[in-house]
Amino acid sequence: MNSETDLMNIEKIIPENIKKLKPYVAGKTIDEVKNQYGLKTISKLASNENRLGCSPLVKDAVIEALDRIQDYPDPVAGKLRKTLAIKNGVSEDEVLLAAGSESIISLLCRTFFDTEENAVTANVTFVGFYVQAGVKGVEIKRVPVTDNYGFDVNGMLAAIDERTKMVYLANPNNPTGTCLTADEYRKLVDGVPKNVLLIADEAYYEYAASNPNYLSALKYRRSNVIVLRTFSKAYGLAGLRIGYAIADKGLIKEMMKTKLTFEPTSTAQAAALAALQDQAFLENSIDVVTKGRERLYHFFDRMGVKYCKSESNSVMMILENEDKAIEFTQRMLEKGVILRRINAFGLPNCVRITVGTEKEMEHFETAFRHSISI
Ligand SMILES: Cc1ncc(COP(=O)(O)O)c(C=O)c1O
Repeated sequence: MNSETDLMNIEKIIPENIKKLKPYVAGKTIDEVKNQYGLKTISKLASNENRLGCSPLVKDAVIEALDRIQDYPDPVAGKLRKTLAIKNGVSEDEVLLAAGSESIISLLCRTFFDTEENAVTANVTFVGFYVQAGVKGVEIKRVPVTDNYGFDVNGMLAAIDERTKMVYLANPNNPTGTCLTADEYRKLVDGVPKNVLLIADEAYYEYAASNPNYLSALKYRRSNVIVLRTFSKAYGLAGLRIGYAIADKGLIKEMMKTKLTFEPTSTAQAAALAALQDQAFLENSIDVVTKGRERLYHFFDRMGVKYCKSESNSVMMILENEDKAIEFTQRMLEKGVILRRINAFGLPNCVRITVGTEKEMEHFETAFRHSISI
């Protein structure tokens, strides 16, 4: 193995579109940072997870589900699907569950794209979409975000051509946390032709839902609109991998054919059902994020730092240039605060901070004050 001839053969095997993909660079784990810098306290504010954990009901449900771990899961997640259909006012055949919304993005790409087609999205958005559309080798038209880091609806509509199959929009967006206003959303939905799918990725829906200016795609639906939601954020189940799509039943029927049969796992299904029972945990999670965002804004205002107002569970800091962003992130890491540079999302001079608990935000502010030359 690994002779020059082997390497040459591997080169020939890999399709060009896969060669072009950039490997996922995972952030450092809590243990890695503890060991590397000899620290006791770490605040992991890098991956938009729920820093409160998950509902205690989830833990009991997962333990109970372990009794049936030898059996394959229900492939349609029937009980959960029914609960979600009722909760969202849709019918069961309009709901599909899978191993997280990233898995659904992957299945959308493999189900609906033909070669020679293209996707329209923003130049600053969730990298998962770039990767999965890239795996299919389709052209990705990345429309620049506005000066305020919002979506350019007119630009996105203008980018649609006869080869466009999909428009992808994360609303609220990641990494900016920005949302389309209700009017912008209506304009987009009305402007996207009926034969083009509009993917409304609402991974951060729960955090934005109470904003009167925010409009979920579910409230203004068309037959070509596919809404994505996840249990990874406000419900705190990122490690279990479970999310869902709501769409026209004709589309869901086709998506069911390409879904990996036994995703999501039975433990994830049980966990999600339990999480839906704990409204108090959900509300507290949203409350902590809402207060934490305000706290960050005030802190940044006092420190003279530029940032983007957010409707998600993270806030994006805007630094002068990429070098400053690299230096700042490194200094914060050395003080036990793990942050995410968002060069892979298209903004090399920006850093994303996941909103954490009060203690974590205190840690962030103290570490920040010691990294002040940035
Ligand atoms: C906009 C957006 N969509 C999807 C995902 C992936 O979510 P999941 O854990 O459900 O795959 C993320 C995760 O960060 C995200 O920010």
